[in-house]
Amino acid sequence: MLGIIAQHVNKERLEAQLQELSMIGYDPDKGRTRLPYTKPEREAVELVKGYMESAGLLVSFDQFGNLFGRLPGNSQSLPVVMSGSHVDTVINGGAFDGTIGTLSAIEALRVIKENNIPHNHDLVVGVFVSEEAARFGAGTLGSKAFVGDYTRADLDRLKDRDGVTLAKALQEWGFDPDLLHTVKGNGSEIKCFVELHIEQSINLEVNKIAIGVVDQIAAPTNLRMTIKGKAGHAGATPMNLRTDAFMAAAEIALAIETIANTIGKETVGTVGEVFVNPNAINVIPGEVVLGIDIRDVTTERKDLAIEQLYNTVEEVSAKRGVTIETEEIARQEPVKTASLIVNTIRETCEDLGFSYMNVTSGAYHDALNMAKITDIGMIFVPSVDGVSHAPEEFTHIEDIHRGAQVLAETLVKLAK
Ligand code: GLV
Ligand code: MN
Ligand code: MN
Ligand code: MN
Repeated sequence: MLGIIAQHVNKERLEAQLQELSMIGYDPDKGRTRLPYTKPEREAVELVKGYMESAGLLVSFDQFGNLFGRLPGNSQSLPVVMSGSHVDTVINGGAFDGTIGTLSAIEALRVIKENNIPHNHDLVVGVFVSEEAARFGAGTLGSKAFVGDYTRADLDRLKDRDGVTLAKALQEWGFDPDLLHTVKGNGSEIKCFVELHIEQSINLEVNKIAIGVVDQIAAPTNLRMTIKGKAGHAGATPMNLRTDAFMAAAEIALAIETIANTIGKETVGTVGEVFVNPNAINVIPGEVVLGIDIRDVTTERKDLAIEQLYNTVEEVSAKRGVTIETEEIARQEPVKTASLIVNTIRETCEDLGFSYMNVTSGAYHDALNMAKITDIGMIFVPSVDGVSHAPEEFTHIEDIHRGAQVLAETLVKLAK
């Protein structure tokens, strides 16, 4: 039986907002590109700010560019119940990653307000900036700052491909990096954080299940590895006289695949960035920079993978005479979701008559950071063919609607 809140969660409004948002940064051949702290991300944030205002939420920004929409509860002394996600994308990304969690949280609060549903705790939607690592090599920037995980020096350390620092990018958006200390969310003022997201994998689809109740979230370590050899003539240099930076990089990349394959089912390794210098067809590459992403649901296995990678790096360096420097750009710890929230989501699925199952998140989310300061939970809805971080990413509106209904009912229970 659908509850009063679920009945009012409006599928057509969600679909229209999703469509409007999906046109920002859109290229018909390439999907959406709304990279962190660029104009398209800002435009998307401004659009959802308008949705928050039209829903009657009290809107504010912090000095990192995170956007909040608040619906006051009956008791101001209680910690807030939070939901939300992000509206940035990878390069050539899809329309659903981050956006459905953002829009559904706003829709939930709108329905709760319009129908005068009683709740003692304040309800807050957080739109965390720059969740994707596609610009700075580190992801979940906004939520990381929000939980107090960045120092002022980190904002100068993190740079995009053009050398623009995170501090500069923040300033370009009109925020003051020197006010980073004001950004910190206080865990004792937040009861919990619940994020709705597309699954980005195939478990729900294959099992024909409507709702995924996330049990744990894998975490990444992101590395940038600079391999230096000697540039040279591609025709005139015999094979035995080369110090080819790319061949060394290729050996390391293949080793990452082997390491991930041998350590465990949930260990994954990706070389998603490759910069070759000078990048000319008739020049032996003198330098290669690799952007490496290694993840697991246990810190032990992730650390083991990284240890094995460093061993490989030493071997390749000695064997090929290249120098290799590695910078750790980000390291996060996997988390488990809180049983209070897991149970509330399950109970809500039962109330609404929706099928559900436990799923593990291989992707990371802002919830991963929020777990440092409060209890978290996540609701997943099916992704067609499991495709994500690609233009073909798709989730049916009926599935999104069910997820939004579960989210709205769950938030009310938690904010009672
Ligand atoms: C972010 O979406 C990630 O999991 O890479
Ligand atoms: Mn993503
Ligand atoms: Mn996402
Ligand atoms: Mn993610």
